[in-house]
Amino acid sequence: MKNKIVYLNGRYLPLAEAKISVLDRGFLFGDGVYEVIPSYSGHLFHFHKHMERLENSLASIRLPNPHTREQWLEIMTPLLDTNFDQYIYLQITRGTADKRDHAFPENTPPTVFAMCSNIVPFPGLSTGIKAVSMDDSRWKLCNVKAITLLGNILHRQEALDQGSAEALLVKDGFVTEGAASNVFAVIDGVLCTPPKGNDILPGITRDVILDIAQKNNIPTREDKISFAALPAASEIWVTSSTREIIPIVELDSKPVGDGKPGPVWQTLNQLFQAYKQSLL
Ligand code: PDD
Repeated sequence: MKNKIVYLNGRYLPLAEAKISVLDRGFLFGDGVYEVIPSYSGHLFHFHKHMERLENSLASIRLPNPHTREQWLEIMTPLLDTNFDQYIYLQITRGTADKRDHAFPENTPPTVFAMCSNIVPFPGLSTGIKAVSMDDSRWKLCNVKAITLLGNILHRQEALDQGSAEALLVKDGFVTEGAASNVFAVIDGVLCTPPKGNDILPGITRDVILDIAQKNNIPTREDKISFAALPAASEIWVTSSTREIIPIVELDSKPVGDGKPGPVWQTLNQLFQAYKQSLL
């Protein structure tokens, strides 16, 4: 692990030698953004969609993009191993200023870091997971993929402490997303997911699933999901780049549907796996 090669500010070097200053604004303020891009057998999954989200995240925090898409691709490619399913973790912070000051520093290059890790198949994929609902305590910029993840990690840990694998976040009576995932629910046979906006991260997996469902005549709806409507859901899933589509089989200690991964999940998951293969 320590010999793993990573990218830091223009250099490829062993992980153990990749060092940044304690004055880096990512360390001091969480002042930066990130991306997580899956790679299947060396092929980056929807590279341009991830780049578009990165560009939006950078613009939202007023951090100039240090590289073109071509340059980002050049940076990531040497980190990939075609023998594995992997993901690139990419992080950009507002760099290292010479003193701690909340205001943006002038003439400070950003810190750019990228590493690649193997995707470990998630154990809950075929059996489903337990989730617990909780009040979404995060901020108003959830659409930005900010490294400032304190709210998300506290929610995830609270779920783990309660013996569940994911938190289902609820804001003003409506489901937003998971601590590190988007949410889908099958209600009256319609695959529903909350709309994009400041309350959720615009997940790439989410978009791909909606697209696949629509192309396969599975009815979909992007609309607010009232928490009160969830007991009527026959299926609930959470989705992300690293875990793909995970059925929630128990929410707040009550079974979802018949307490097993449902038929719409079975279909969508198969279609999703076939779609991944079709891109190779
Ligand atoms: N997280 N919502 C949140 C809050 C997330 O953190 C993630 C993913 C998603 C799903 O987005 P996507 O489908 O593009 O992965 C939604 C990543 C995997 C992470 O932080 O590691």
